[in-house]
Amino acid sequence: MSGPNTDYDPVQVTPLAAAEVEAMRDAALAAIAAAGDLDQLKQVRLEHAGDRSPLALANREIGALPPAARKEAGQRVGQARGAVNQALAERTAILEAEHEERMLVEETVDVTLPVDRTPRGARHPITMGSELIADVFVAMGWEVAEGPVIEAEWLNFDALNLGPDHPARTMQDTFWTEPAEQHVVLRTHTSPVQARTMLTRTPPIYVVCPGRVFRTDEYDATHSPMFHQVEGLVVDEGITMAHLKGSLDHFAAAMFGEGIDTRFRPSYFPFTEPSAEVDLRCFVCRGAAGAVETCRTCKGEGWIEWGGCGVVNPRVLVACGIDPERYTGFAFGMGIDRTLMFRHGITDLRAFFEGDVRFSSAFGSEL
Ligand code: DAH
Repeated sequence: MSGPNTDYDPVQVTPLAAAEVEAMRDAALAAIAAAGDLDQLKQVRLEHAGDRSPLALANREIGALPPAARKEAGQRVGQARGAVNQALAERTAILEAEHEERMLVEETVDVTLPVDRTPRGARHPITMGSELIADVFVAMGWEVAEGPVIEAEWLNFDALNLGPDHPARTMQDTFWTEPAEQHVVLRTHTSPVQARTMLTRTPPIYVVCPGRVFRTDEYDATHSPMFHQVEGLVVDEGITMAHLKGSLDHFAAAMFGEGIDTRFRPSYFPFTEPSAEVDLRCFVCRGAAGAVETCRTCKGEGWIEWGGCGVVNPRVLVACGIDPERYTGFAFGMGIDRTLMFRHGITDLRAFFEGDVRFSSAFGSEL
């Protein structure tokens, strides 16, 4: 006969008693059976089979039992945990199958339903193109600036060093509003936004200004009395023409792909000194011998005229309240419509303005 087990501590054994273990198992099995979907089952698994579940905790108690009692207790807990795990696996399989079946029903597409016959339309290609261009500069940390299309003569001309008698004024065929004494024009370029920006902000200034402009041009394949320009303006300490060239090269690459160079040709604008016309490497023939001669895009030039640019004239800085001894800047301006025409091989400017939704869908939704 064995003597009384003096090491036996009933308190430690309680969680391992047969009735206790059974109760834990049954609670787990009931919860598993009650789980209505995979999410609920996940929660049940955590509560009844996880590291902190009653059965897992009971399992840890086994080591504390006297050696003679460990085997039986171990078997009891092991069986209970086995039963729980099996029930979990079975329930998982059932719920997964149910889920799949439900998805098949819920996600069924009735291909016989009639289509929506209302044409969707698309955003206007110019709107999307303007945003695309602005994004190139916003990605470099520049801001977008805007100004009104009905503009003060002073901002459109005088502030930009185009005094009343300046011959360049007549080069921009201006729409004047009445009465003339009001000195209000439809802006002929986006450059007045430069002046507005410099008058209201202090350097460093890095802005890009897309917008609508107006000139008394005939309406034909390459001209329109209303078109779009994008202006760039930087005013900071130590800004040079090199920064201008780098920015335009980056702009060109973003619009037309890597490897599209730009070149400067000396020019004149009253608001920049020195000034340049910026040309774009023809993206069709790339100026390559053998291809350039017959290229219809650049007409054999190898280069395409893109816009105007230069170092901001100190007189403009002074007119706009910026100290030209401390700051320098660069500016550029080019046609958005023209840029998009090159980019997408659009040969008639009027296509932008005729409102044919087939054009907008083709170019507007994929820009
Ligand atoms: N405003 C000029 C135009 O419409 C284009 C232009 C030229 C803008 C030189 C500039 C610039 O900012 O620096 O013809």
